[in-house]
Order: sequence, then C-alpha cells, then structure tokens
Amino acid sequence: MANILKVLKGTKDILPQEIDMWHFIEKKADEVFSKYGFKEIRTPIIEVTELFSRGVGDTTDIVNKEMYTFEKSERSITLRPENTAGVVRSFIENGMSRLSTPVKLWYKGPMFRYERPQAGRQRQFHQVGIEMFGIKQPTADAEIILTAVNYLNALGLNDLEVELNSLGCPKCREEFKNKLKEVLKPYLNDLCEDCQTRYEKNPLRLLDCKVESCQKIYSKPEVREIIMGDFLCDECREHYDELKLYLDKMSVKYNENKLLVRGLDYYNRTVFEIKSNNLGSQNAVAGGGRYDSLVEQLGGEPTPAIGFAIGMERLISLLPSKESKILDGYIVSNFPVDAFVFAEELRNQGLNIEFDLTNKKFTKQLEKASKVAKYALILGEDEIFKHQVSIKNLENGKQITVDRADCVKMLDL
Ligand code: HAM
Repeated sequence: MANILKVLKGTKDILPQEIDMWHFIEKKADEVFSKYGFKEIRTPIIEVTELFSRGVGDTTDIVNKEMYTFEKSERSITLRPENTAGVVRSFIENGMSRLSTPVKLWYKGPMFRYERPQAGRQRQFHQVGIEMFGIKQPTADAEIILTAVNYLNALGLNDLEVELNSLGCPKCREEFKNKLKEVLKPYLNDLCEDCQTRYEKNPLRLLDCKVESCQKIYSKPEVREIIMGDFLCDECREHYDELKLYLDKMSVKYNENKLLVRGLDYYNRTVFEIKSNNLGSQNAVAGGGRYDSLVEQLGGEPTPAIGFAIGMERLISLLPSKESKILDGYIVSNFPVDAFVFAEELRNQGLNIEFDLTNKKFTKQLEKASKVAKYALILGEDEIFKHQVSIKNLENGKQITVDRADCVKMLDL
C-alpha cells in the first residue's frame, strides 16, 4: 500500500479500546467538580491570537514558540494552547461578573502547543480544568487545590505530590526581580540565549530554566540567597500563610518550592503543581494558580480569579487500563428473523445488543459473544419453539433458560 496518510507528529487517535478510560475520567470530573458547585463551560477551540499574546503573555514560550496561528479574512487566529484565557474572555463577554460570586466553571477539551513531542508531551493534548472568579480570600485557593486533589483521589491516584509557592503581587515581585537581576548581572553573558531574553523581559522565568550552565549560576550561594529569600509583602505573606493553614486543616499535604514559577505570565500569589514520580521528565499532572489581574487586563472589571488544569493524557498514563464490554447481550442464533426481532425488543428496553448478521456457525457466534458481551442470549430450536431464551453469563459460564418476556429482569447489569 503506497502513500498511506499518517496522523500528524505529536497528535494521537483515541481508539475505541481507550475510550472507556476517557469517559471514566470525564464523568468523574463532572461528578467531583459538581460537588464543589462548578458548572461546565465549552468555549471555541479557535480564538483571536491577541487573546493569548495579551492573556498568557508574549514573553512566554507558549506564545513565542508554540502557538498554531493562521490568518483568515485578515484576522490572526490561534488554536488555543490553554483555556484560562478563553474562559476569561467568555466570562467578560457574557457579563458573568454580574452573577453572584463565586462564578465556578469547569471545562474539558483539546489544546494545541507546537512543542517537541516526547513521552507526556504532545502537540494536541487534552485538559480538564476549573476556574473560579470573584474571591480574593485564600479560602478560594484552598478550595481549588482541594478540588484538584479530591478529583485525583477519586480516580484512585493517591501518591501524588502537591508543590506550592507564592509569586507575590506585582509590587513585591518587582523588588524581587530587581534584586535577582542585580545579583545575576555579572553572569549575564554566561546565561543561555533564552535566559538573556528572560533577564530583560521576565526575570522570574529564569528560575524555570533547565539548561545546566544556567542552573550552575542559579545555584551559586549569592544567587541562591536571593531566590530562597522571603520577598513577600505583608499582605501576600498573610494570604500564603492562611492558605497553608487551610490546607493543613484539610489534611492536604504539600511541599513548598520556591523555584515553582509556572510557564504562563498571568499568575500572582498562589501557584501550584501536582506531580507524579511515575511520569518521567514531564511529571506535572496538574498546574494552576491565582490570576487576579487577568480579567481586567483583558478588558473586564477587576475580578480576582484562580484555577487549574490537568493533562488528561498524563492522567490516563497513571491509571490502570480500563476497557469494559459495551454490549449487555449478544444473541446467538441460526434463526435470523427471530434474532432480529428479539434484538430490537431488548434495545427498546434500553439494552445494548448485537447479533450475527451473517448467520455464522453457532460456535463461532458463541465465541464472538464471549469477546464482546456480558451475556450470550441463545435462541436455539427449542427456545424458538417455546418462546424462551437461554441466558449464558459469560463471566462465570452459568446458564439458565427463561421465558423471553422475563429476559431483561434476569440479567444482572
Ligand atoms: P499548564 O501547566 O500549561 O497550565 O498545563 C496544565 C497541564 O496540562 C500540565 O500540568 C500537563 O499535565 C498538561 N500539559 C501541558 N502541556 C502539555 C503537552 N504538550 N502535552 C501533554 N500534556 C500537557 C495551563 O494550561 C493553565 N491554563 C492552568 C490554569 C488554569 N491556571 C489557572 N487556571
């Protein structure tokens, strides 16, 4: 076969044998997030490019290097690389600031980043996330982190680590940035090209650099002293301490990590990530934080906000695989007309049913039934004559014969 077209690099099909897992994590998200009062929102996958350059920040890798952007009718359009900016746009555009606070939204869907594909990193990936608007108190930060942890626990993931940091407010962060720049000035020429740009445009992102030569500089005692020092102003310190108190009370374990700065520009105060040791180098399952200026920055009323997103592919890679049989019953019969009629009767009663459309040998049909269904529903000569059905439980092999009218109530589904 010549010229077979293939899926794009960094993208993947989600195949029928994987779909149960996706349904499972999506259903759980709805269940757990609803408990905390969140309602689902669905925003478009395409947005105007400016939303991300203004929202996510034009010094970030996401905006600088990773966006899928194209022109259409003289507008620059981008496939969303994340969904906080889109949800904020929708919050403003639909006048949600008039709703009683907090406004609590959750979402799921595909995101697009032109990154170098590797394990845990795709160019089209999926996120499930939540955003909460209108609350500046640290109770909101605690509730958001608790919601993330409880969702992951509800999926059976318990050995995850929450990393926590506070990036302060623009005021105290400015002082920190200046101190950092001052101490790094003598090493400026030794920093990697990206860090030299970060030094000028967004010094906080310096801490996130993975280049070894930069790491060496950032671990020098005089630089370390600035990084590990306490730069938070009184209000930010109080907010952070109160948050930790709530987390302690809720028995949410966390590690403080001063190097946690996140790759998006909109954050202030609380940032967090949830990590797993079983994920290799891309070990963050979830990332989030507070973004109190973003709504105003995108043209809305000043509104504090906080949220997180979880990478669904990374989540699935941590869970034991799950594939359930879609069919309740498979009708095994060499009387196609009776099989057809009975199948429709059962489908009308809400069951998932198939039967053999090609009149294969009885044993072949039984083999097929055991692969795809929970029960084989056998209509042999005897059953046809007495208007009965033999129900074979394909898990334990037990078989009973009943009147066809009683079939549904005899199934344990
Ligand atoms: P983020 O840290 O960029 O945050 O992404 C959140 C999660 O999405 C990551 O922890 C990871 O699990 C997953 N993820 C990110 N990039 C990829 C990729 N290329 N391939 C596979 N999975 C990936 C945000 O997107 C923010 N919008 C989160 C947020 C919501 N902050 C406040 N509200």
